[in-house]
Amino acid sequence: ASFRIGYFVGSLATGSINRTLSRALIKLAPEELEFTEIPIKDLPLYSYDYDADYPPEGQALKDSIEASDGILFVSPEYNRSIPGALKNAIDWASRPWGTNSFARKPTGIIGASPGSIGTAVMQSSMRSVLSFLDAPQLNAPEVYIQFKPEVFGEDGEVHDESTAKFLRHYMEEYSAFVQRVLDASAPGHI
Ligand code: FNR
Repeated sequence: ASFRIGYFVGSLATGSINRTLSRALIKLAPEELEFTEIPIKDLPLYSYDYDADYPPEGQALKDSIEASDGILFVSPEYNRSIPGALKNAIDWASRPWGTNSFARKPTGIIGASPGSIGTAVMQSSMRSVLSFLDAPQLNAPEVYIQFKPEVFGEDGEVHDESTAKFLRHYMEEYSAFVQRVLDASAPGHI
């Protein structure tokens, strides 16, 4: 079986280190995972004024999440929390009320910072948000990446074998987790 993974990059920056990390994760992931980026940069700022007539970009976001077997967030930490652009996308996907697209979707959270905290506080904020949205989360292993340009190449190559091994292990555990959640919700699906 193969699994469709929709991934979010929580940064809009052209030189995003988290986008570089996402390329590495895709390269190291087991072959049963197929990745599609779910873009966030063109979403307007959410307001419930949109609920009565959801705009196509909001609906497209919801459709992409709902068409995915699992969701992966690869995000920086901004001011000890979730970057505004990513939180905005989550707010869009959670509405209109009663149509939360994240409900029961298996999720993983990972991120990189230049500093040694490695997005730990963002990840903790994300866990609260995803819990409220009823999204099962891979609890362990946790991955807090202190980004070093000599380790991560632009095209997703990882130049340090222990980092590559750890990230490969994370993606294997993430894949197994997605399979467990899907199988629990629809036995026989796999
Ligand atoms: C940061 N940065 C940052 N880093 C961190 O570890 N904890 C933090 O709370 C913050 N806060 C923060 C706020 C804002 C507004 C910016 C722009 C940056 C630094 C951040 O980790 C660094 O810029 C990374 O390069 C961001 O990841 P991307 O955007 O390159 O993927």
